[in-house]
Amino acid sequence: MKIYNICFSPTGGTKKVADIISRGFSEQFEFIDLTEKSFDNDISIKSDDIAIISVPSYGGRVPEVAVKRIMKLKGNGAKTVLVCVYGNRAYEDALVELQDTVVDAGFNVLAGIAAIAEHSIARCYATGRPDEQDKNTLNEFVKKIKQKLDSNDINNIQLKGNRPYKKFNGVSMVPKPTNKCNKCGLCAEKCPVSAIDINNPKNVDSSKCIACMRCVSICPQSSRKVNKVLLSGATLALKSVCSKRKECELFV
Ligand SMILES: Cc1cc2nc3c(=O)[nH]c(=O)nc-3n(C[C@H](O)[C@H](O)[C@H](O)COP(=O)(O)O)c2cc1C
Repeated sequence: MKIYNICFSPTGGTKKVADIISRGFSEQFEFIDLTEKSFDNDISIKSDDIAIISVPSYGGRVPEVAVKRIMKLKGNGAKTVLVCVYGNRAYEDALVELQDTVVDAGFNVLAGIAAIAEHSIARCYATGRPDEQDKNTLNEFVKKIKQKLDSNDINNIQLKGNRPYKKFNGVSMVPKPTNKCNKCGLCAEKCPVSAIDINNPKNVDSSKCIACMRCVSICPQSSRKVNKVLLSGATLALKSVCSKRKECELFV
C-alpha cells in the first residue's frame, strides 16, 4: 500500500495542510505536484493505495486548472481523503466539487476536511495557519480515518456544499513586476497556467492569469506585486468575514 499526496498549491498553504495529513499516514509518501505544468499523470495508483487530494478554495470553487489536472489521473478505486483549504472566509462548494471531480477520476472517497491556511491574497488573514492547534486537529482527523479503515465501515460521507456549484466570477488581480525584477524567469517557469512571458515578465496574459499569487510568493527579488489600491480594497472588503478564527471541519 502506498500513500499519495496529490496537491495543487500555488503559494504552499494547501501543501502545508496536505503534508501534515500525509505524514499522519506515513513518513514515506509520494508527492504529486499538480501545481507544476509537467506533473506526472502517468502514475499507477492501485485500489489498496491511499490518496490525499488537496486543493485551495478560490471563490468557493476548486480552481479550474486543478479540476483539469485531477481528471488526468486514474484513481483505480484508491481510498481517498479530500482536503479543501481556504483563507478563513468560506469554502462554499469547493469540497463537493472536489468530491465530484475525484469520483469522476475513479477515486473512492473515504473522508474530507475543510482546513484553513493563510489567505494567499490578503495575508493578514489566517496568518501563520495551519498552526499548532490546526496540527492537532489534522492529526485527530487522520486518527479517525484510520479507525474507519480498521472497522471496515467505509460508508458514504455527507459533505457541506451545494450542487449546482456557485458561479466563480474570477479575481482580477494580475501581479506585475516592479523595477527590482532582474528577469530571472522563475515566475514564468513556475506559473501554473503559463500566463507570464519568459523573455519579458512584465507581459502577463491576463486572460490566463488565475491570480493564484504564486509568482508573488516565489520571486527571489520580491519584485512581483498586485496593485496596492486593489489589494487594500479587497483586504478591507474581507475584514468582517475573515477576521474571526474559523476551525477545520471534519467529515469522516
Ligand atoms: C484567486 C483566489 C481566490 C480565493 N478565494 C477565497 C475564498 O473565496 N475564500 C477563502 O476563504 N479564501 C480564498 N482564497 C484564499 C486561499 O483559498 C487560501 O489562502 C489557500 O490556502 C491558498 O492556497 P495555497 O497557499 O496552496 O496557494 C483565495 C485565494 C486566491 C488566490
